Amino acid sequence: MAIRTILTVPDPVLKQVSKRVDIVTDETRALMDDMLETMYAAPGIGLAAVQVGVPIRVIVMDLAKEDEKPNPQYFVNPEILETDDETQTYEEGCLSVPDYFDEVERPKRAKLRYLNYKGEQVEEWAEGMYAVCIQHEMDHLQGTLFIDHLSRLKRNFAINKVKKAKKKDAA
Ligand code: NI
Repeated sequence: MAIRTILTVPDPVLKQVSKRVDIVTDETRALMDDMLETMYAAPGIGLAAVQVGVPIRVIVMDLAKEDEKPNPQYFVNPEILETDDETQTYEEGCLSVPDYFDEVERPKRAKLRYLNYKGEQVEEWAEGMYAVCIQHEMDHLQGTLFIDHLSRLKRNFAINKVKKAKKKDAA
C-alpha cells in the first residue's frame, strides 16, 4: 500500500467526469487499498479516486467514530436509484478543499447500488452521515465539488483560501 497525493482546487483533474470500471480486479483493489491508506493519513472519512488523479468510478469511506473499530467501505460504479424528498443540511468539508467547511443541503436518504471490494453487487439505503458522505463522494465522480453547491462568492473564497495556503507552504 502507498499514500498517494491528494489533488486540491483548482486542479482541473477534479472537474473530470470519472469513467465506469468494467470489472473489479486486483488492480482496482490495490488502488482502493492505497486510497484508504491515503484517506486515513489525511485524515478524512471519504475519498474518490479522481482526488488522487485517477478518474474512475471508485470511492472509499470510513464513518466509524474514533472509539469504534475501523469500518472501511468500498464503492465501485455507485449509482443512486432513488432519494427521499426530505432533505438534511450538514456542514461538509473535503480533502481537496482543505480547511474550508460549509453547509450543503441534500436528500436525507438515498438508495444505492454499487459493487463492493469483492466485486459483488450491493443495494441498500443510506441515511444520516452515510447519505451525506456517499452523495458528496458521488458528486466527485461527476466533477462536482461540495463548494459547487454554494454561491459563487463562497466558492471563490474557498478556492482562494486553498491557493493562498498552498503558496505559503511552498514558500
Ligand atoms: Ni470531497
